[in-house]
Amino acid sequence: MKPTITPKTYRVKSFGCQMNVYDGERMGELLSEKGMSAAPDGEDADLVVLNTCHIREKAAEKVYSDIGRLTKGKTQKKAPMIAVAGCVAQAEGEEIMARAPAVGMVVGPQAYHRLPEMVEQAAKGQRSTDTDMPANAKFDLLPKRRRSAPNAFLTVQEGCDKFCTYCVVPYTRGAEISRPYSDLIAEAHRLVEAGAREITLLGQNVNAWSCEDEAGRTVGLAGLIHALDRIEGLARIRYTTSHPNDMDDALIEAHGEVAKLMPYLHLPVQSGSDPILKAMNRSHTAESYLKLLERFRAVRPDIALSGDFIVGFPGESEADFQATLDLVDEVRYSQAFSFKYSPRPGTPAAEMDDQFIPREVMEERLQRLQALLNRDQFAFNKAVEGQTCEILIERKGKLPGQWLGKSPWLQSVWYAEENGGEGALGDLATVKLVEAGPNSLRGELV
Ligand code: 5AD
Ligand code: SF4
Repeated sequence: MKPTITPKTYRVKSFGCQMNVYDGERMGELLSEKGMSAAPDGEDADLVVLNTCHIREKAAEKVYSDIGRLTKGKTQKKAPMIAVAGCVAQAEGEEIMARAPAVGMVVGPQAYHRLPEMVEQAAKGQRSTDTDMPANAKFDLLPKRRRSAPNAFLTVQEGCDKFCTYCVVPYTRGAEISRPYSDLIAEAHRLVEAGAREITLLGQNVNAWSCEDEAGRTVGLAGLIHALDRIEGLARIRYTTSHPNDMDDALIEAHGEVAKLMPYLHLPVQSGSDPILKAMNRSHTAESYLKLLERFRAVRPDIALSGDFIVGFPGESEADFQATLDLVDEVRYSQAFSFKYSPRPGTPAAEMDDQFIPREVMEERLQRLQALLNRDQFAFNKAVEGQTCEILIERKGKLPGQWLGKSPWLQSVWYAEENGGEGALGDLATVKLVEAGPNSLRGELV
């Protein structure tokens, strides 16, 4: 690679989960701190960070085609400097460096605090890779948070020790680590001072978070939520993603005790069939999962439930799949995410290759599952029609005076102010939910 110039503008493109969105925001803050600025919409950036996701198929191919698009028809002088970050960087960094000379640096999810330094090196024509995984180091080295959207993310926990047999996360994000209590309280305060009204606590296994509090007592996520509850100016608390096995009584009870804790739970189940759950190494059964949900509903009857599903896991029979449909029928999710199984290199399930389910069968099962999930999502939206609730205004709509926000149950709600008046971003507006659609609701300002 020839020497290039030091970039003045950057763009971070994040794919995949909310953890990546958080990481992408932090990378942007880091680059801004070093004097770069975010490229305006529609303009080319001098530096493009591809913050990648490896969880499902074709992740690496997508990276190569993005690189191709960024460099196509451009001279080396005009082409942006490219950084590959995130989980594909972690898993396939060396190969990317070898295959894509246009990439100036590869930086894993635990090493991105080194990004500015690596950009400087790339500007001198030196390509570099950092996929080390020292726990917690990067958080201490990131700049303090200065600006925030009304709804902010706060990573409290990273990594996963569960080793579900289909999943790459334990390999790309490493072992479970919890960020220290005092750091999180301080970051939450800063986010609120910077304009956040809602904080979503993030972690691959967010409810595995545990640490000593200021009095030296070991607390779990519920303890952290109670502490955040005391922050003035913070109106709403959410957390995601939880694992059924890390759920404790205190967290369930918190849903009945903390008014700021929103009535929403994302708890992936993946399948409703016990033999498949076993083969997935999920260490819960359909029944134990349902029992857990009942306990949440007992303390918070209106709680909105969400989940993740994989169809077509190796060996999944029609009866196994039917068990998943039965579970969905019983739970009545307010929203859910469902995916076709995708063999990930290096995971145990990818070795179960004699039992692969044909693509057409997977496709057909996914459609049947999604039809049920869509039915339930619409029904959930319909069920709150006529109610009045607060929505947190997150952005402007397309038309003047139109505002978009989230209900406590994480539904998208929009309303139009009469006379096209100016509402304020970050306000909690009280609206009557007048009309439910499959994916959103129309509200009227009260
Ligand atoms: N194939 C399909 N879906 C997967 N997920 C994780 N790994 C795979 C895979 N190999 C899904 C799970 C998880 C969500 C984040 O992605 O449902 O909960
Ligand atoms: Fe992947 Fe399972 Fe860990 Fe979730 S709990 S990140 S699905 S290994």
